[in-house]
Amino acid sequence: MTPYGKLAIFGAGGHAREVAFIAERCGVAPATMAFVVEEAHLRETTVNGIEVHAIESGHCDGWPFVAAVGDPALKERATGLCVSRRMSAATLCDPSVGLHRTVVLGEGCILFPGAVLTVNVSLGRHVHVNVNSSLSHDCRVGDYSIFSPGARVAGHVHIGSRVFVGIGATIVNGLHNVPLPIGDDAFIAAGACVTGPVADGARVMGVPAKVR
Ligand SMILES: CC(C)(COP(=O)(O)OP(=O)(O)OC[C@H]1O[C@@H](n2cnc3c(N)ncnc32)[C@H](O)[C@@H]1OP(=O)(O)O)[C@@H](O)C(=O)NCCC(=O)NCCS
Repeated sequence: MTPYGKLAIFGAGGHAREVAFIAERCGVAPATMAFVVEEAHLRETTVNGIEVHAIESGHCDGWPFVAAVGDPALKERATGLCVSRRMSAATLCDPSVGLHRTVVLGEGCILFPGAVLTVNVSLGRHVHVNVNSSLSHDCRVGDYSIFSPGARVAGHVHIGSRVFVGIGATIVNGLHNVPLPIGDDAFIAAGACVTGPVADGARVMGVPAKVR
């Protein structure tokens, strides 16, 4: 089910443990996975039975990797660290996810159980679509963005890079000729309902969502 005989998972926290679970569902054996963290964050030698290594040790140099941290900017940094160790990006798509031929996934994307991308959806690199999160027709997403569990994005929404969409948030649809823009580095709080454009770096919350 997966072309990866080995897999390095950057991170060893909750998100990383979940990503290891997806990898296992995709056919990667725990014995062939490793969590990698920066030396300064090395606390344990195994987590859920999977080895943890400092990235500086070189143990996982050259392995395929996924960056499994929940903060988009940290994920970008983690990706840079992995690439500097000659690691190449892996993509994980949970077996429950059916992908239409018009969907485009960048390298390093992770699709969790119950994620739904309908048609003409395009994800940049290292985008995570978490449990039961959906993106509808004609959505575009930039690199490193994260959709938390249960986030809902309607059609014709153009989402920038490093955007965080909180748990249960909703983004209403744009129009065919006027897509709804969500700027780079925007933060959409848990449960927000976004009904209009969001500027670069804005933090929005509430129903309807407002900058706060
Ligand atoms: C937006 C968020 C970061 C705010 O956290 P915070 O800065 O610690 O906020 P506080 O709890 O101090 O609350 C500050 C104010 O914002 C309000 N607020 C906080 N979160 C809110 C939310 N999600 N929606 C609406 N209002 C919110 C609080 O009611 C409070 O209002 P007040 O000043 O009128 O009393 C947090 O609520 C959030 O949404 N985090 C994302 C969690 C998530 O989706 N995780 C996914 C894990 S997979």
